[in-house]
Amino acid sequence: FNKYSAYPAVGLTDRTWPDRTINEAPVWCSVDLRDGNQALPVPMSVDEKIAMFRLLVSVGFKEIEVGFPSASATEFAFVRRLIEGGLIPDDVTIQVLTQAREHLIRKSFDAISGARSAIVHLYNSTSTLQREVVFRKNMEEVKAIAIEGTRLVRQLKDESRNSGIRFEYSPESFTGTELEYALEVCHAVMDTWGASKDEKIILNLPSTVEMSRPNLYADRIEWFCRNIKDRDAVLISVHAHNDRGTAVATAEFAVMAGADRVEGALFGNGERCGNMDIVTMGLNLLTQGVNPGLDFSDLPRIREVYSRCTRMDVHPRHPYAGELVYTAFSGSHQDAISKGMKARGQKGDGLWAVPYLPIDPEDVGCTYEAIVRINSQSGKGGVAYVLEKEYGIQIPKWMQPDFAEAVQAVADRTGEELSATQIHDLFHSEYVRLQ
Ligand code: KIV
Ligand code: ZN
Repeated sequence: FNKYSAYPAVGLTDRTWPDRTINEAPVWCSVDLRDGNQALPVPMSVDEKIAMFRLLVSVGFKEIEVGFPSASATEFAFVRRLIEGGLIPDDVTIQVLTQAREHLIRKSFDAISGARSAIVHLYNSTSTLQREVVFRKNMEEVKAIAIEGTRLVRQLKDESRNSGIRFEYSPESFTGTELEYALEVCHAVMDTWGASKDEKIILNLPSTVEMSRPNLYADRIEWFCRNIKDRDAVLISVHAHNDRGTAVATAEFAVMAGADRVEGALFGNGERCGNMDIVTMGLNLLTQGVNPGLDFSDLPRIREVYSRCTRMDVHPRHPYAGELVYTAFSGSHQDAISKGMKARGQKGDGLWAVPYLPIDPEDVGCTYEAIVRINSQSGKGGVAYVLEKEYGIQIPKWMQPDFAEAVQAVADRTGEELSATQIHDLFHSEYVRLQ
C-alpha cells in the first residue's frame, strides 16, 4: 500500500482538499456464510461452508458470521463442526444470527456451546412498513421485542460463564425506521445489556434495503454517532445492501461518518442485489494507500474457491477481480499502458502510476500477460508492445502503422482476438512480403 497515494495525481489544493477521508481500515465482518449463503439458489453444504470458512480465515477476517444455526439443521451442524473440529483459529470470532424469539435464542446458544469466542447477533425489524404491514405492532411493542431478546441473551451469556461471548443488535430495516425511534430502541438495548466501555456491544445499523443515496445513509450514521448516549459503550457497525448499486459507496461514506465496523461479503454476494462487496471496498482502501488488513494478493484463488463453493460467477468486469479488468482492447489504451509500464520507476516517488490501471495487477495475483490483447480495436502501439514483450522484437516506427493495419485486417475478417503467436506469424509473413 506504500506504492499508492491517497489522492493520486489530482492536484488537490487547500480549497479542494476533502474534509474527511478514511485513514484506517474498519473492523471487517464477513457475512458470506450467512447473508451470502441464504441468498444462494443452492445453499452451501457443510463441506462447502468449511472450505469457504477456511478461505475467509486465509483472507484475514477476524469476525465471521457463520450462519443462522437456529434456522436450519445444516447451519447448526456446521457451527458444531467448526467448534468440535477445532477449526476456528484463536484470533477468529464466529458470529451467529438469531431472531428475537426465545426458542431460537436458546438454540443459538446450544450451537455455540464450547466456542472460545462468539458474537450472538440478535435482530428484529423496526421499520414503519414492517411494523404496520408485517407485525401489526406499535412502536412500544416492537421495542419490547428487542428488549426481551436482549434480556435473554444477557441471561444465557451469564449462565454460560463464557466471557468470550459478545453481543450484537441490529434494528433490521434501519433505513426505513424513524431515526429517533431507532435510537430509542438501541438505547433500550444498551440499558438492558448494561453496555459500557468495558463491555461494548455492537450496534449494527443495516441498510437492509438500500433506499437512498449513500450520503443520506451516512448522515443517519453521523447523527446516530453524535446522539448515542454513550459512544464508548458501543461499536457502530454498518451492513449495506446493494439495491441501488451503491453499497460500497454507502459503506465508505458511513465509515467517514463515524462507523467503526463494516459487514459485507466477497464479491458482493447476498440477498437480492447483494451485500456490500468487501473485495472492492478493501482494494479501494489499498489503492488509496490504506492497509485494508485483508489479504487480496491472490484474487484468482479467492475467486476460484468462492465460485466453487457458491456456484456463483464473478462478473468478468467486476472491480479488481473480473477476468477482463487487466485487459485493454483499444489501441490508445494499449499504447498508454505500454508507455506507462516502460516509464515505471522513472518518477522517483515509487508510486504506482500506469495509465488506465488503478492498481498493479501483480498486487492481486494477476499477471501482465493478459493486459494487452489484440483485436479489431487495437492500434499500432499495442501490436508493437505484444511483439516486443513476447518475442523481444522491436519493430521500427515506420513499419508499425502498416503492420497494425495488417493485424486489424485479420481481426476484422475473423472477428476474433489474435494471440501473440498469430501476431508473430503474421509479422513474419508481412515482413517477407515487405522485403
Ligand atoms: O440486511 C439486514 O438487515 C440483515 C440483518 C439480519 C442484519 O441481514
Ligand atoms: Zn443483510
